Amino acid sequence: MVEISVCIGTSCHVNGSYNVVQTFQQMIEEYSLHDKVDFKAYFCMKECQKNGVSVSVDGTTYRIETVEAGLFFKETILKRVIVNQS
Ligand code: FES
Repeated sequence: MVEISVCIGTSCHVNGSYNVVQTFQQMIEEYSLHDKVDFKAYFCMKECQKNGVSVSVDGTTYRIETVEAGLFFKETILKRVIVNQS
């Protein structure tokens, strides 16, 4: 199970966390990952001073732009799911 959190605190909300959440939900649906990921919202990961939206994957925090959410999902989250399965 890959643990994913998207920050929905004020700073990240302003930077587009809603769009990141929507993108991740669509991709979880598209790849049928409901039983392989634990997807949660989180209130402030203490990274507000940086640009973008804070996303945590298995305890590692990343800061991503909304336009790269789909690519981030494929390159970081999907790969991690595949590694966990093998
Ligand atoms: S609001 Fe997202 S890191 Fe602070």
